Amino acid sequence: MTTTADQSLWLAALPPAPRPPLTGEHTYDVAVVGGGITGLTTALLLKRRGLRVVVLEAAQIASGVSGNNTAKVTALQSTVYSQIRSRHGLAAATDYATASLAAVAQVATLAEGIDCDLRRSPAITYAFTEAEVRDVDNELVAARQVGLPVRATTDVGLPFEVHAAVRLDDQLKLHPVKYLRGLADQIDGDGSLVCENSRVLDVSGNRVSTSDGHVDAEKIVMATHYPTLDRGVYFARLELTRAYCIAARVSSPPEALAISTGSPSWSISAHEDKLILAGQSHPTGKTVVEPFRRLEDFAREHWQVEEVTHRWSAQDPTAYDHLPMIGSYTPGNTTVFTATGYMKWGLTSGTFAAALLADLVTGKPNALAERFSPHRVSLKSVPTLLRKNAEVAAEMVGDRVMPADATSSEDLLPGHAHVIRDGLGKTGVYRDESGKLHGVSMRCTHLGCLVRFNAAERSWDCPCHGSRFDVDGEVLEGPATKPLPRKEPR
Ligand SMILES: Cc1cc2nc3c(=O)[nH]c(=O)nc-3n(C[C@H](O)[C@H](O)[C@H](O)COP(=O)(O)OP(=O)(O)OC[C@H]3O[C@@H](n4cnc5c(N)ncnc54)[C@H](O)[C@@H]3O)c2cc1C
Ligand code: FES
Repeated sequence: MTTTADQSLWLAALPPAPRPPLTGEHTYDVAVVGGGITGLTTALLLKRRGLRVVVLEAAQIASGVSGNNTAKVTALQSTVYSQIRSRHGLAAATDYATASLAAVAQVATLAEGIDCDLRRSPAITYAFTEAEVRDVDNELVAARQVGLPVRATTDVGLPFEVHAAVRLDDQLKLHPVKYLRGLADQIDGDGSLVCENSRVLDVSGNRVSTSDGHVDAEKIVMATHYPTLDRGVYFARLELTRAYCIAARVSSPPEALAISTGSPSWSISAHEDKLILAGQSHPTGKTVVEPFRRLEDFAREHWQVEEVTHRWSAQDPTAYDHLPMIGSYTPGNTTVFTATGYMKWGLTSGTFAAALLADLVTGKPNALAERFSPHRVSLKSVPTLLRKNAEVAAEMVGDRVMPADATSSEDLLPGHAHVIRDGLGKTGVYRDESGKLHGVSMRCTHLGCLVRFNAAERSWDCPCHGSRFDVDGEVLEGPATKPLPRKEPR
């Protein structure tokens, strides 16, 4: 058990539906690595264009962020349009809106015939405090400018006063795991295949390799959420933030897909008789105190909570210039493609990424290719890029003098962790509920920052580029691909 969180509302209740791993040598037109919304949607679109596609998923379909979110599929996304307009101009914000509206429509079409609890709901961006009104007003103007049929309202069906809100009707909520399993079912067959438990360990030329098999493919799509291949320097241009979610049985679940603009932000939605509340966001590797308790307190303050049924968390990358990165993996590469940087809105942007990737893979011109190219240079955002990388550099230097917490683990309580100095290095020690000690080297195997303990998840998280490891050092999330070496705890 590497996390104190349960499985997500979406993953917990569904019986497993296993698919075979890749074994042996195969040839496909396209190898798609990653079975989340990006990979599966891309694979299905390519299959419908007549290509033979294999999807290689390291764990299970939708076990990544696509099965650990709040399941809103909406073109209204907090304050995304005012932010993109200020960084890139109105044309970029309009492109993002056009792509997002098309993605919502695409999900509705793809979901036809899939039993995935699809419902139409209004999306709301709201001001929880007076101080947030300006952001909401700006978003209203920006959303209108980019052509979204939004309106101002304060009647949002939430059990507390909101100071202002923007509303966009006819957006979607669904059960993401049922939806993605439905896509996977449609990919399988007629020469295409979806494999689970098939972690890609190497991509070399046109060859993709797992521990038990190889695929030679004309095109390769790395839909691994975070681009983990050791090329492209994505880690210097992406920042990961984690956020926490709870589901709680309440007497009147809200109808809208709502999110407040402030910090902390309160994201609200519902599934059947359950309220879904998310927030307490922070850069991965930094922590917030008792995020689940804070969410639960907020839920109990505003709803009659019968029971908190699920707690889960996840992280998503944001590019330094706040636009998704979709395109060739490295500049000019016509074989390997990727998509990332969805800013916690990837059910929508992962879907439009798939449409763009399908065009790039099949050589069809797409007007959005340049806009979302991972290799664009956003001059206005260069200061942000420099600041972020200076922070990482400071983290690397600061780590060298980080003090140890203790000299022995004798008094370490179950469920707690601390840092012990061992010679020139440091050991992270965790004591589990049975009293057993787990020791790991604290030096992140990506680029060497010191990991920090995340008490809410019982994981060692890296503040530099967001890698996460369990208490025995196994990689939970990249960019790191190698485990933390185990150490004998003292
Ligand atoms: C708390 C939270 C709430 C969110 N809520 C929403 C929401 O309401 N609406 C919304 O639009 N977005 C939301 N998002 C964001 C959204 O869920 C993600 O942006 C999106 O799911 C990312 O999809 P993906 O396919 O890129 O990644 P993933 O779903 O993570 O899929 C990547 C897959 O690749 C696999 N993989 C990784 N490495 C390898 C390898 N080497 N070989 C083979 N497979 C590999 C992983 O196992 C994983 O299954 C939320 C995000 C967070 C953090
Ligand atoms: S994730 Fe880059 S140093 Fe840890």
